[in-house]
Amino acid sequence: GRAEHVELARIADLIIVVPATANSLARLACGFADDMVSLTVLASDAPVVVAPAMHSNMWLAPATQANVRTLRERGVHVIDPTSGALGSGDSGIGRLPEPEEIARAALEVLSAREQASHLLSGRTVVVTAGGTREPIDPVRFLGNRSSGRQGLAIASAAARAGASVRVIAANVESALLAALPSHVQVTRVGSALQMREATIAQTADADALVMTAAVADFRPESSYQLKMKKDPTNEDAPTIRLVRNPDILAEIGHSEARPPLVVGFAAETGTDEEILAYGADKAARKGADFICLNRVGENVGFGDVPNDIRLLDASGHIAARYVGSKDEVAAGLVGHMASFLDNLKR
Ligand code: C5P
Repeated sequence: GRAEHVELARIADLIIVVPATANSLARLACGFADDMVSLTVLASDAPVVVAPAMHSNMWLAPATQANVRTLRERGVHVIDPTSGALGSGDSGIGRLPEPEEIARAALEVLSAREQASHLLSGRTVVVTAGGTREPIDPVRFLGNRSSGRQGLAIASAAARAGASVRVIAANVESALLAALPSHVQVTRVGSALQMREATIAQTADADALVMTAAVADFRPESSYQLKMKKDPTNEDAPTIRLVRNPDILAEIGHSEARPPLVVGFAAETGTDEEILAYGADKAARKGADFICLNRVGENVGFGDVPNDIRLLDASGHIAARYVGSKDEVAAGLVGHMASFLDNLKR
C-alpha cells in the first residue's frame, strides 16, 4: 500500500495548518519532509491554509516575514494573526484568529477552487513549454535558458480547471514534469522541427493552444553525424551556417485548421511603450488571439521574482494584466481563456 503521508496528501481536499508556529512556517517554506505536517503538505496538491500564532517578535522577524512571503507566492493562503493578549503574557500581534475566521477563510479557498475547477471542463488545451535545442553535432546544440516553469504552471492551472491537457515539453527537467497532475499528457521534444511536428499533431482537435516555449529562430543548416573535431594543425574556427526555423505559432495561427483559441508569448525588454508596440505587432503577425507580453530584465520575468504579464488581444489592446507568482499569472490566464471560449459558443 501507499505510505500513510502520501495517502493523506492524496485524499485531502484542503489542508489547514493551525496553529502554525514560526518553526512550521520555516519548515513549510523550505520544503522539509521529516515530520507528518511538512511531509503531507509537500506531497499534496490540495490548497493549503495556514493560520500562524506566535509571539509578536517572532511574527515580525524578517525571517518569518520572508517565509510568509515565500508561502504566499506559492499560492499558500496565510491568514494574518490578530493583535491581543499572547500566551507569553505580553500583548501584540501574533494571536490565532477566532476559529470562525479560520473556517471562513478555508471555505472561501475551497469554493474558489471548486468554481475554478469547471472553467475548462470538456476542453482540450495544448501547452508548449521549455526551450528548443538545435543540434550542431551529436553532443552540441544552440539553446536558450527557458526552464519551462511558466508553461507548466499554465498546464497545471488548465488541468485544475478541468481541461484535458497536453504538454509539449522541449528540454524541461524531468523533476518539473513529474510535478504535473498525473492526467496531463506529456510529449517530449528536442528541436524546433520536432516541436513543430508534435504541436501540429496534438493541436488538430484542441480547443486552445498556448505557446510558452522559447523556440529557436535559427538552426544549424546541417548537423554533423559525428562530433566536430578541432584540427590541431589549423587555427581556423569552423563556420556554422544557420537557416531559419519555421514560426510554429504563426503557421498554426494562420492555418485553416487552427484551434479556436491561440495564445502566444512574448518576452520583451524596453520601455512600456516599446514593449506594447512589439506585442501588438506580434499579435497581428502571428495570427494569435492573445499575446502574453512578459516584461523581462530588472528583476521581473526570471527566477524567483513576480511576473508581470499583460494580455494583448489581436488588435494590440490590453485585455488583462496579471502580476504575481507564475501560478497566479497562470490562474489569471486560464480564467481569461475560459471566458474567451465560452463567448465563442454563443
Ligand atoms: O517572435 P518571438 O520569438 O518573440 O515570438 C514568441 C512566440 O512565438 C512564442 O509564443 C513562441 O512560442 C512562438 N514561436 C514559434 N516559433 C518560432 C519562434 C517563436 O512558435 N520559430
